[in-house]
Amino acid sequence: MFDLIFAAIGGYGLGSIPFGLVLTRAAGLGDIRAIGSGNIGATNVLRTGRKGLALATLLLDGGKGAIAAIAALLLLGPDAMLVAGFAAVLGHNFPVWLGFKGGKGVATTLGTLMACSWPAGVACCVTWLVIAGLFRISSLSALVALAASPLYAWYFAGPETAVMAAGLAVLGFIRHHANIKRLLKGEEPRIGKKKTGAV
Ligand code: G3P
Repeated sequence: MFDLIFAAIGGYGLGSIPFGLVLTRAAGLGDIRAIGSGNIGATNVLRTGRKGLALATLLLDGGKGAIAAIAALLLLGPDAMLVAGFAAVLGHNFPVWLGFKGGKGVATTLGTLMACSWPAGVACCVTWLVIAGLFRISSLSALVALAASPLYAWYFAGPETAVMAAGLAVLGFIRHHANIKRLLKGEEPRIGKKKTGAV
């Protein structure tokens, strides 16, 4: 039991590093939370027009989920891997450093899934890319990939991983509530569209 608590704390701590905020501040772009959707993730960093920073945010946010899960697996075992990966997404979405107002957890979820079951992670990434290719809307791509993730996880890894993926999907949908409202109104911006005011 202590193993799982340790995995949760470690995963949360790693996941709570807000790379999008840190990188955009370091680049002199100010507070990413005052730009576009206000989110600290790669999609919103891309709205600054800095593709390299957006890619770095994507890789670092995904990487922290993957590293949390892999480290827990190596140090504490398979159950701890699932707990640490889930906690990393919780840390990203609700970081103590930002008053528990963080991101939407898509990249961190994909990184976690990639570490827990790489075929499921790849299937989610492909789903994201296909929907993005068709509609060019990041949130829609994320929602479809999140919705499909428990099925992929079940198929490739089994019920425990599927339960974790379902939990992450629920978290992701909750964090996308404003995007869902905009999608329903047809007002969600396309990928890469620069925006300086609030969406
Ligand atoms: O990965 C986050 C994405 O699904 C939505 O981001 O900035 O358009 O709200 P954003």
